[in-house]
Amino acid sequence: MALLLAVSLCLAASLSPCTLAAAAQGGKRPLVTAITKDPATSLYTSPLKDSRPLVLDLSGPLIWSTCDRAHPTLQCHHHDCAHAHSYHPPGCPHTGYGKADEEDRFRCKCTAHPYNPVAGRSATGDLTRTKLSANATDGRNPLFPVSFPAVASCAPASLLAKLPAGAVGVAGLARSRVALPAQVARTQDVADKFILCLPRSGDGVAIFGGGPLFLLTSTSPPSEAGVDLTKLTYTPLLSRKGSSSYYLPVKAIAFDKAQVQLPGNPLATGGVVLGTTAPYTELRPDVYRPLVDAFDKALMRRWNISKRVPAVAPFELCYDSKTLPGPTRIGWLVPDIDIVLEGGKNWTLGGLSSMVDVNNFTAACFGFVEMKLGKGGYGGAPAVVIGGFQMEDHVLQFDPEKQQLGFAKLPIFISCRNFNFTLSH
Ligand SMILES: *[C@@H]1O[C@H](CO)[C@@H](O)[C@H](O)[C@H]1NC(C)=O
Ligand SMILES: *[C@@H]1O[C@H](CO)[C@@H](O)[C@H](O)[C@H]1NC(C)=O
Ligand SMILES: *[C@@H]1O[C@H](CO)[C@@H](O)[C@H](O)[C@H]1NC(C)=O
Ligand SMILES: *[C@@H]1O[C@H](CO)[C@@H](O)[C@H](O)[C@H]1NC(C)=O
Ligand SMILES: *[C@@H]1O[C@H](CO)[C@@H](O)[C@H](O)[C@H]1NC(C)=O
Repeated sequence: MALLLAVSLCLAASLSPCTLAAAAQGGKRPLVTAITKDPATSLYTSPLKDSRPLVLDLSGPLIWSTCDRAHPTLQCHHHDCAHAHSYHPPGCPHTGYGKADEEDRFRCKCTAHPYNPVAGRSATGDLTRTKLSANATDGRNPLFPVSFPAVASCAPASLLAKLPAGAVGVAGLARSRVALPAQVARTQDVADKFILCLPRSGDGVAIFGGGPLFLLTSTSPPSEAGVDLTKLTYTPLLSRKGSSSYYLPVKAIAFDKAQVQLPGNPLATGGVVLGTTAPYTELRPDVYRPLVDAFDKALMRRWNISKRVPAVAPFELCYDSKTLPGPTRIGWLVPDIDIVLEGGKNWTLGGLSSMVDVNNFTAACFGFVEMKLGKGGYGGAPAVVIGGFQMEDHVLQFDPEKQQLGFAKLPIFISCRNFNFTLSH
């Protein structure tokens, strides 16, 4: 509940507090794009490539997509070729920076290694220059379309396996010079910061280049509410060798204020990472078992319910909806989950972020899943991947320069689908 209050809102009618939402720096404007959740895969996409979707991957250091036969290729000595090789995908053979150009043997063509995080497969493709597009924004509306050059890797169409139908590649959002946020920052001359507001349904919003961010309330009539970015809870972001992903300094996990005992401090081994390509938070088996048992116990202790129903894949703990307290506008009244961060700050997940309704709302399941071993990813297997479902309807501001993340849960009368996507001038 504390996080609910962390976003202070200013309605359009009362002007002054809105100035707290930081204005765009410099002459150039941040870019906005819609985020759609694909119902079949639960992956999030944005229409960045000729209106065709790219999958958003918080752990991806590259942008990649299929290419036309005729495309430019960067040379091996180009600095972006070195940047594209800063992070090497798991299980991918090292083949050097590139290969000799068949038409000009004095020229070395840069190749990169695009990685499909869902299929866990990589490939080799030319490092090329492409055009991406989004809209300039004042934080309230899209203002006008902007097309911008980006360095991206080509990939064979076979690398699109397991991505949403229609998706033509992946937009990496990690801390790399050739990921999308850094490239927008350079080409648009805006801050290297971005805001993600992942939707549970409808269109969510991403803003690259800083704030502000305004969302409409779901009241009738709707009014404009500014998200005060200075009031987010800020936590440092950690790094791990071989990875450009965003790791959080998680000290403990608690249910109903009682810390879950995790034998052997497993969170420190592998770390806790944010991942948009995990539909639900994934826990390594040594973290999963104690956490699932503790949640079940906490729920039964608090509400004296014992009526579990058969598991509904991919979940294990499912309860008959009739026996659960709620639902309310803040979801099922199950124990709050505190992700305890360094410095005593908590990311608190309530029922809306922890329980998943299944079987036409006749049951609800604890929305955390056991990680499949061997899945790895850049930087090896983490202890926890905080997945999409748990990040939805939160405002997340990534600031790779300051190495920090600002987060807040949106109040119940606002959601990530409430950005006003009507073009304004
Ligand atoms: C810009 O915004 C308009 C209005 O929402 C939308 O129709 C259009 O597709 C957007 N353009 C790009 C390039 O995203
Ligand atoms: C964070 O969560 C822990 C465990 O539930 C709790 O003991 C602590 O008081 C919380 N801290 C804040 C600032 O809410
Ligand atoms: C909990 O429920 C069981 C049966 O459902 C009942 O026998 C028991 O008395 C209940 N305990 C409390 C503390 O309500
Ligand atoms: C879901 O539940 C509603 C209300 O209980 C019912 O009207 C509807 O037919 C159910 N849908 C399916 C697919 O079972
Ligand atoms: C959305 O933005 C358009 C363009 O600025 C504006 O005319 C409209 O009133 C806005 N919608 C709401 C509900 O505020």
